[in-house]
Amino acid sequence: MRNKLTIKNIIHPFKKKINVSSDKSLSIRCILLASIALGKSKIFNLLDSEDVNSTLQAVKKMGVTYKKKKNFIELYGVGINGFKVKKNTVIDAGNSGTLARCILGLCSSLDGKIKLIGDASLSRRDFSRVIKPLNLFGVNINSHNKMLPINLEGTNLLRPIDYFEKKGSAQVKTCIIFSALNTPGLTKIKAKKSRDHTELLLKHLNYPIKIKKKKNFELISIKGLEQFKSFNYKVPGDISSASFFIILTLMAKNSELIIKDININPSRIGILKILKKMKANISVINRRTYKGELIGDIKVKSTKYLKSINCPENLNSAAIDEFLLIFLIAGTKSKGISSFSNLGELNKKESPRLDIAINFLRMIGIKVKQKKNHIKIFGNPKLKLSGKYYIKKFFKDHRVFMMSVIAALTLNGKWTIEDRDSIKTSFPNFLTILKSLGAEFK
Ligand code: S3P
Repeated sequence: MRNKLTIKNIIHPFKKKINVSSDKSLSIRCILLASIALGKSKIFNLLDSEDVNSTLQAVKKMGVTYKKKKNFIELYGVGINGFKVKKNTVIDAGNSGTLARCILGLCSSLDGKIKLIGDASLSRRDFSRVIKPLNLFGVNINSHNKMLPINLEGTNLLRPIDYFEKKGSAQVKTCIIFSALNTPGLTKIKAKKSRDHTELLLKHLNYPIKIKKKKNFELISIKGLEQFKSFNYKVPGDISSASFFIILTLMAKNSELIIKDININPSRIGILKILKKMKANISVINRRTYKGELIGDIKVKSTKYLKSINCPENLNSAAIDEFLLIFLIAGTKSKGISSFSNLGELNKKESPRLDIAINFLRMIGIKVKQKKNHIKIFGNPKLKLSGKYYIKKFFKDHRVFMMSVIAALTLNGKWTIEDRDSIKTSFPNFLTILKSLGAEFK
């Protein structure tokens, strides 16, 4: 299949119910935790994507075995401190920052060495954020420039740490929690709020982890070296994948969509809160809880105009993967000026997303003012495009590709968008679902 997508027409009105791909964060965490549980875990509805596949390959290299069945995967956990690696083991995390950062924590007590590598996008990302706490645990970890490739040698002389995680990064927090599991004594983390799937899963497994929620922080304490039993888990839909269809519906004409069985953990629904503030026609129905996580169906209808927003900074972490879409809708659907602040972390994702979003909006004729990591977007809901737009591959960034497709399907103009392969990392059936809604592309 060619790696470019061409779109010439906007999408016609649609009214449908859909499911999107399973949650990536939860899929990766389920595999990693099942690999250190005792015995056979069953994971249903696991996301079938490259990042998740890299995670399975990684735990296999640690001596963990698994079987893919029709509706689930069976994984045989080796217990805490049970990983076994061969000499010269290389772990390839591909495009996945979550896998790369989290597996380093899980390997802190390894009896042996590993080399961690990744693709070009992952190889430009910062790892000082996990190298620092792992050094404090006593792990021998080194790399050139604090980037991949990284060499790690585990130790059986880990010491518990008391750490302040200031970035609001769930990947860093999970890396520290995983290393704490391998460490005797009590590890304490004060963490700026970020997604809390790891903590919720461990709590659900009755692991001795304590969490105190403060306004902007979580205080977490973890007692190390407690074995836990295998588990069964059914992964819900991914709000980050659902978001492309939420924005598509809001931007399309006379359309309505219900997106079923989505994880609506409060630490993930920044986009819903932001869209509500912008007066979008969106609601969550059929709410329920599942093993500590909240699940619901998202109902969304086209909205003619949205209000601009002065986005509160405390929503940044819960919307971190959705800002490309939020900027797009603020620029093309809202009246007035929207402002967003302290979004430096966006430039540290699969590609420099803040810079890319600004260039993208300017390319389609939206005025944007930038001061370091703060931006103001001058909304123009009357925007109608004509002419040709070409979106080049710039590192492998699935979210840049999918956001561009949503823009092309709602804003007119003739579009060519490179890198359709990138969706394989997180949302392989993105284009199939779009087709089922009537989208036309080649
Ligand atoms: C993730 C956390 C977020 C997010 C990423 C997935 C996770 O990154 O951007 O796509 O599963 O923990 P940070 O924790 O680095 O902000």
